[in-house]
Amino acid sequence: VKRIAINTGGGDAPGLNAVIRATVLAAINRGWECYGIRDGFNGILEPARYADGGVFRLTRDRVRGIAHLGGTILGTTNKGNPLHYPVKMPDGSTQDTDRSGEILDYFKREKLDALVSVGGDGSLTIAHALHKMGLPVVGVPKTIDNDLDKTVTTFGFDTAVAFATDCLDRLHSTAESHQRVMVVEVMGRYAGWIALHSGISGGAHSILIPEIPFDIEKVAQKVRWRDGLGRMYSIVVVAEGAAPVDGGRLVAEAAATGHAERLGGIGERVAKELQERTGKDARVVVLGHLLRGGSPTSFDRLAALRFGAAAVRALEQDMSGVMVSLAFPNVEYVALEEVAGRMKGVPLDSDTVQTARDIGICLGD
Ligand code: F6P
Repeated sequence: VKRIAINTGGGDAPGLNAVIRATVLAAINRGWECYGIRDGFNGILEPARYADGGVFRLTRDRVRGIAHLGGTILGTTNKGNPLHYPVKMPDGSTQDTDRSGEILDYFKREKLDALVSVGGDGSLTIAHALHKMGLPVVGVPKTIDNDLDKTVTTFGFDTAVAFATDCLDRLHSTAESHQRVMVVEVMGRYAGWIALHSGISGGAHSILIPEIPFDIEKVAQKVRWRDGLGRMYSIVVVAEGAAPVDGGRLVAEAAATGHAERLGGIGERVAKELQERTGKDARVVVLGHLLRGGSPTSFDRLAALRFGAAAVRALEQDMSGVMVSLAFPNVEYVALEEVAGRMKGVPLDSDTVQTARDIGICLGD
């Protein structure tokens, strides 16, 4: 009997529960046992916090009817990296401490053979480190942002794009009725995938992404150009990590508010600037964490179920240090080493970017 554990780390994404379900069923159907670690690795590192001890048996019943549910039944966290665990010191301060050895000890003590770790860049980097320390690990890529390298896409992304597109569809009529500029800020700290895909699908007139520093005057020109045609409203999609090309007022303002590095509230600033430059009424809608919620689309659900089953097949073949990846039409395995710490931005020569340009969407450059 193989005894395996599964955890989920980082921001949640629709499809996590489908991965858990497929992993558990594929394990049970091989006669294995599967255990769930709560909140990343916190279930192991802080067992006293949990009524069930932080690690619990995942039975067929525990994973019944969960594939279509958002979130994760295991819980997740951004604050539980065992390599840099925030430990409270006697003087009240917290100090980054390497507690990875405790994870390995736990697996040895509990006779757990391997870990399926579902997460984004941070979690997969941890998975890679644990693999190098001798723990058999298979990673499963997750992020709504779609910014992980070596997989065509991650589950959660399609759901986020579908929701953002629906929101854009709904905003056209109110923007047009009031002749306003509607700025829609979507997630995407480092990459503009959600902004670009939903913006094109949802008929945005301008799309601003981190990969293309924008000139706000170009966006204002696009608004004025549309006004000149009698189309008195504009929809602008902004990824949260988008930044202006020259700094100028937007950056000065960000610096003044202490957000120079990560331009938090970029949608708000773009709306304000466009209002000043065009004289039009502007409004901002921040979709934020709504993009992470809800039921995964069938695409994400199927991808997640395939990833979970493929992770178990990898363990059956005694693979470790690999990540399951989508390489249409199949799933493949790539070395975690090739993924950890590598972000995948929107390629500027991609046909998707070209499509935006060809149909006249302003990308701010
Ligand atoms: O990594 C995914 C993501 O959705 C980013 O786009 C966003 O910046 C971040 O998570 C926000 O996460 P949280 O609010 O959980 O820190």
